[in-house]
Amino acid sequence: MPLTKAIIDCDPGHDDVVAILLAAKHFDLLGVTTVGGNAPAWRVTENALGVLELIGRPEVPVARGAEGPIIGTLPRAGERVHGTSGLDGAVLPRGSNRVIAKRAVEFLIDTVMANPGTAVIATGPLTNLALAMRAEPRLAKSIARLSFMGGSATWGNVTAAAEFNAWADPEAAHVVYSSGARITMCGLDLTRQAAVGPETIARFRAVGTRTAAVVADLLEHYRAAAERITGSPAVPLHDPCAVATLAAPELFTFARANVTVELRGEETRGMTVVDQRLVLEEGAPVPEGMPRPNCRWAKRIEAEGLFRLVEEALAACP
Ligand code: RIB
Ligand code: CA
Repeated sequence: MPLTKAIIDCDPGHDDVVAILLAAKHFDLLGVTTVGGNAPAWRVTENALGVLELIGRPEVPVARGAEGPIIGTLPRAGERVHGTSGLDGAVLPRGSNRVIAKRAVEFLIDTVMANPGTAVIATGPLTNLALAMRAEPRLAKSIARLSFMGGSATWGNVTAAAEFNAWADPEAAHVVYSSGARITMCGLDLTRQAAVGPETIARFRAVGTRTAAVVADLLEHYRAAAERITGSPAVPLHDPCAVATLAAPELFTFARANVTVELRGEETRGMTVVDQRLVLEEGAPVPEGMPRPNCRWAKRIEAEGLFRLVEEALAACP
């Protein structure tokens, strides 16, 4: 059975590294597009090249994307956790692979339109996706499934109300959630169920590959940085959840809901409002007069299943 074609749009970022690892194993990875988020675009692009070299996939094309949000400039909130490099805690190999000339927006449009059935996994701010959807109106409906790590059905992380990826470019999130794309939302309410502490990181390291050692070093840095901020010894593996909804949907409980993005609130800008007045089971009819849900909401995850996917992917790498 051929692997499903996929593109990952990301801002590596420690948890993005694990998402790229899973995407490379479970999908026919057509490319990696990068977006300014955890670090400036040039840094996350260098990081993406290094990750692909690390996992033995230097042939996967990397296309650089937006420097910052549609409105305003890139906030530097990511550095507190990811460091100035975006991937503090380990040194990635630098090999022969180089960023391609085509920019991320064009790469997303050209690749999805030329490869029907392609899925997109988004683990950073949605700027590239929003710009691409505006440039090619057919794109939203041509993406087989858009799995987005972002937003929250409960409280935020970068602010009391907002999650970082949605907060970093709320207008982009609004464009994507209004686009009609087949969105799966992996918000903080989900990803906090898949937090890794020292024991799970040690379990990853025990896989024994070079990739496992580097990823364990990166996750330990990420965990310790997050602990200094939150006080919790475990850090959510946010971005891999967005890959797993497509690679292993059996690990999840989904529902359908209507999600809107706050653009104006003084305290709530970037908040994803999940309308829980109407949450439907998958496949249930929409009651007369109610808005059609615009996303598949990932509500529950079996974290142990996700950790097993990570172990298996690490074992398959150099
Ligand atoms: O809020 C978590 C998200 O913000 C993750 O994608 C992490 O990599 C950061 O980008
Ligand atoms: Ca990310």
